[in-house]
Amino acid sequence: MSRYRRENLETRVERERSEIFAALKRLDRRSFLKVAAASWAAATAAGATFGNGAFQTLRFVGAQEPQSDAASNGLSVANKTDGANVANGATQGVRVAYISDSHLYVKEKNDRFANALVRAVADVNALSEKPDFVIYGGDLAQLGSLEELRLGRDILSDLDAPLKIIVGEHDWYLDLGDGWRSLFGEPFWAFDCKGVRFVGIMSVLEDDFWTPRRMSPVERMQTVAGLDNGVQNRFKIGASGLRWLEETLADCPNEKPVVVFSHSPLYALYRPWNFWNEDAAEARRILSRFDAATVIHGHTHQLLTHREGNIAFHGLLSTAWPWPYPPTGVPELTVEMNRPDPFNPNDACGDGELRISPDGLVDKIYRFWNREPILVPAAYVAGDATLRPKRPNLPSY
Ligand SMILES: [Fe+2]
Ligand SMILES: [Fe+2]
Repeated sequence: MSRYRRENLETRVERERSEIFAALKRLDRRSFLKVAAASWAAATAAGATFGNGAFQTLRFVGAQEPQSDAASNGLSVANKTDGANVANGATQGVRVAYISDSHLYVKEKNDRFANALVRAVADVNALSEKPDFVIYGGDLAQLGSLEELRLGRDILSDLDAPLKIIVGEHDWYLDLGDGWRSLFGEPFWAFDCKGVRFVGIMSVLEDDFWTPRRMSPVERMQTVAGLDNGVQNRFKIGASGLRWLEETLADCPNEKPVVVFSHSPLYALYRPWNFWNEDAAEARRILSRFDAATVIHGHTHQLLTHREGNIAFHGLLSTAWPWPYPPTGVPELTVEMNRPDPFNPNDACGDGELRISPDGLVDKIYRFWNREPILVPAAYVAGDATLRPKRPNLPSY
């Protein structure tokens, strides 16, 4: 090295960043551009352990004949799922790939988020074992315009697997759902797959704060898009939505696994940021009679795991950006990722998979784009603390 060379703080940070990025490029190739099996193996290498009660215990037997969708929603054809295998007493559980919270702007304003969604679709299409369906967790658009929603629909139409989609607040509050409905159908839907009842709900309803303030649709949308502005109301499912949920599950015996897809988390996380749902307790009451119920939610853009009694809760990654963790309310089961690397806009973003066994237990993988994948085994969520995943951390700057 030249004696004239200096390495001040800025130069050192730059060098370290370059070294990490070089390593991460190798990680990207190894972990993300290969098939799902590689992701699971990498999760193991990252410290996830599989003792009794983890993957090996999941036996996918006794599956039932799938029923057709209770309500078709646009692109989704989830009732196509694998009926032949199921009729034979399938040995597989339900495999669900997930993508969430892409927050697309129109192309002229921003193409980074659209490119990120394209990347997530490529991830799902590269899976060696095709998922039974893909769930999109809401917030497809950023400011709710039909143009943003159409862009999202077009990118998602490249998926090789059936799509089910739920609505987020960013998709809804420009036109109160007209555009979203025109592309994707009704925001409440249900269907059975391999003996599991899957339900999608609209859980970002807000009482009218805009009319008294004489807000335009754009002002309403921008207000809702700012989660902690203190102007809007808290999310809820609403009386008719809750009634629909109860009626939709009425024919399910208690032992039938139930998985609910909701954009907002259905437990008390953090009210000031609307990481919250005002009538979630009533939804939990409806789910309380089941041996195993699971709520999968978007909106929080971070690794989140929680359990209350019979109900497990799983937050999804965003493809657009990670939110910080709220100062209070983070559940004990959650293994927090540290703050994202400001030099890498993809850090702490990604997509992932869910595997649901016939007894309703859910294994979850977070497939980070800039960190090693994290596996959250069902047995850990059920109480085996020895299976706690390692933190998906990077050095912070
Ligand atoms: Fe979001
Ligand atoms: Fe959201």
